[in-house]
Amino acid sequence: MCFEVATIDGEKGKRGTGCSDVGEEEGVLYEYEKLVPLRIGGIDVRVPENNSLLRCFQYLKLYPISMGGFCWNADCRTCEVLIQVGTEPARRVLSCQTTVIPGMAVLEMTEKLKFCLRNLDSED
Ligand code: FES
Repeated sequence: MCFEVATIDGEKGKRGTGCSDVGEEEGVLYEYEKLVPLRIGGIDVRVPENNSLLRCFQYLKLYPISMGGFCWNADCRTCEVLIQVGTEPARRVLSCQTTVIPGMAVLEMTEKLKFCLRNLDSED
């Protein structure tokens, strides 16, 4: 299902367009024009550009991430992931503080993120 979603900054008239159930939640995503490829634990997905990895995870699994108790501001560190972009060395980052890059791969994640993103390749 495709529809418009509101931006997180709440500015009037700035809206991203995408296809996700996230669109039902106002104020979740930053403005974006397209979905970009992201690999999570060997599973290829498409997520909104210009958004943090954690917002992208939320786009994929709205309720588990929304209800997961994440601080969203670099305090809890439960969103830490090991990422790799192209041939660059893998590095650990906080997914709430890291903007997705097309082609990025998420190699490892915390147990909480694993739980929230379980069954990523299914429709539930
Ligand atoms: S969500 Fe708490 S540090 Fe990222």
